[in-house]
Amino acid sequence: MSDVLQKMETRRSIRKFKGDMVPQDIMDKIIEAGLYAASGHGEQNTIMIQVTNKELRDKISQMNCQIGGWKEGFDPFYGAPAMIIVLAKKSWPNRVYDGSLVMGNLMLAAHELGIGSCWIHRAKEEFEMDWGKELLKSLGIEEEYEGIGHCALGYVEGEYPKTPARKPNRVFYVK
Ligand SMILES: Cc1cc2nc3c(=O)[nH]c(=O)nc-3n(C[C@H](O)[C@H](O)[C@H](O)COP(=O)(O)O)c2cc1C
Repeated sequence: MSDVLQKMETRRSIRKFKGDMVPQDIMDKIIEAGLYAASGHGEQNTIMIQVTNKELRDKISQMNCQIGGWKEGFDPFYGAPAMIIVLAKKSWPNRVYDGSLVMGNLMLAAHELGIGSCWIHRAKEEFEMDWGKELLKSLGIEEEYEGIGHCALGYVEGEYPKTPARKPNRVFYVK
């Protein structure tokens, strides 16, 4: 099996991370993979925000927890020290497809590089809030963007999750 196919089969969502930071050169490679995702019309209407700053990471976790309705103190990022937030232009009809593909590339690249990842949702709600809009403004992002997902990143703590069997009867052939 090719290495790419093997990586696709063995990538799992990680929900327990070590506290060690992912080095910037590895983050850069993961981000690069996101930049090369296919996009509708080749428009590249997605952006990514790397968050490795602990203060902001914790604030995002707190807002995400609030949106998710969990008890205060729960960390929906499972202790991951880093994340890449994917957003796409609000005006772009393919925004969810394009952003999801970027997320897929990020997760696969992370796995290839020995980094655990998990798609953490509720980015849409975060960036609909004034708090999220202010964050974009503070980064000089003026256009309107929709949050697609957060890719939580870090070194895997504990046992690597087993691959659940695939549900049957999900493929149809017309030959
Ligand atoms: C659109 C989407 C949203 C997700 N949101 C979350 C989330 O908020 N929290 C979480 O722990 N996992 C989240 N996941 C991860 C899924 O739960 C996970 O992919 C699924 O259980 C299959 O496991 P695997 O990724 O190991 O194959 C999300 C995945 C997708 C595709």
